[in-house]
Amino acid sequence: MDPSNIDDLLIQTASQARRFAVADFSDFAVGAALLTSSGQIIHGCNIENATYGLTVCAERVALWKALSDGHREFRQIAIVTDAPTLTPPCGACRQLLWEFCGDMKILLANTTGLVQNHQLSILLPFPFDRRSLT
Ligand code: THU
Repeated sequence: MDPSNIDDLLIQTASQARRFAVADFSDFAVGAALLTSSGQIIHGCNIENATYGLTVCAERVALWKALSDGHREFRQIAIVTDAPTLTPPCGACRQLLWEFCGDMKILLANTTGLVQNHQLSILLPFPFDRRSLT
């Protein structure tokens, strides 16, 4: 698979996932697209509710969907918003992406076509994970 094409496909999928965002409180729609090691793309959007604190980010929705479908290995994730400054994953999502996906590539994009590549280990240095429990 040509990597630049898969990047475009992930961004397009994440961008389309924003349409389903349940973001009545923040009005900030986020879309995510997670690429599994078998080449499948699982998308997610942010889901808010009246308690605010039980909001689930788009990244975690995509990750929970993928895990509950039996996927266990992942290559990269794309995150798309319409913010002029690209939206990085929040701390909670960085932790969960690290634990379930490892040092994956994080592709950030916005609706004007701005794109950046990041590596999760750079966004989450010195992480706590299962190895810390031994
Ligand atoms: N949000 C995400 O879905 N992903 C991120 O990477 C950052 C924040 C959501 C949570 C909330 O619904 C809205 O964006 C505003 O914080």
